[in-house]
Amino acid sequence: MEGSSDMTDVTIFGAGNMGSAIAGILTDGGSTVEHITTSSKDPAVSGDIVILAVPYAAFNDIIARYGAQLAGKIVVDITNPLDFSTFSLIVPPGSSAAAELAGKLPASRVLKAFNTNFAATLASKTIGSQPVTVLVAGDDAVAKSALAGAVAAGGVTVIDAGPLARARELEAVAYLQMNLAVAEKIGWAGGLSVVK
Ligand SMILES: NC(=O)c1ccc[n+]([C@@H]2O[C@H](COP(=O)([O-])OP(=O)(O)OC[C@H]3O[C@@H](n4cnc5c(N)ncnc54)[C@H](OP(=O)(O)O)[C@@H]3O)[C@@H](O)[C@H]2O)c1
Repeated sequence: MEGSSDMTDVTIFGAGNMGSAIAGILTDGGSTVEHITTSSKDPAVSGDIVILAVPYAAFNDIIARYGAQLAGKIVVDITNPLDFSTFSLIVPPGSSAAAELAGKLPASRVLKAFNTNFAATLASKTIGSQPVTVLVAGDDAVAKSALAGAVAAGGVTVIDAGPLARARELEAVAYLQMNLAVAEKIGWAGGLSVVK
């Protein structure tokens, strides 16, 4: 999808596999990126786009500490909400982690993105012999365009997957992909590829 490609300030909660890989794409595209991790001392959230590259279980802590600062901002949920003891999705059927987040942050512009991409594919910007594609869902067209512009500037294709209601399907697809990787039918640098 086309996006607005002005330089963007981005705050990424988390600096692990996903936080680092997404930061690489965004800085390649000219965005300024700051990370907030558990050891950060409650800094101001300066980014216009805020990416939650943390476990789903960390959402409530982040909302309690930073929720007021997230009002009006674009907040990107990348999680795959699993109970790893049973390897099952923990969000009720019909809902999604992104929908639940949007309910808890009604003043924010919540998007779902990156959850169908394994971290290694974002780091290399490739999946097998194909360029990697980021699927994004959300109800705010301007917010989607801003995220798409920042990601596309970093050399990664973005496809609009529809309204935030499609986050449910994005989480289901990612869950399937994780099952395939855990069963060693695909590698963690592989996965499901989107070809236009
Ligand atoms: N890995 C993948 O391939 C992949 C693919 C798609 C989606 N995802 C999703 O991406 C998310 C992150 O996965 P990951 O593999 O990047 O995990 P990770 O490598 O374990 O990194 C998690 C990061 O979250 C930070 N964090 C945890 N709780 C926090 C809190 N309360 N406040 C601020 N930061 C906090 C951690 O900070 P500290 O270091 O300070 O603890 C760490 O930097 C998960 O929701 C996962 O489902 C992952």
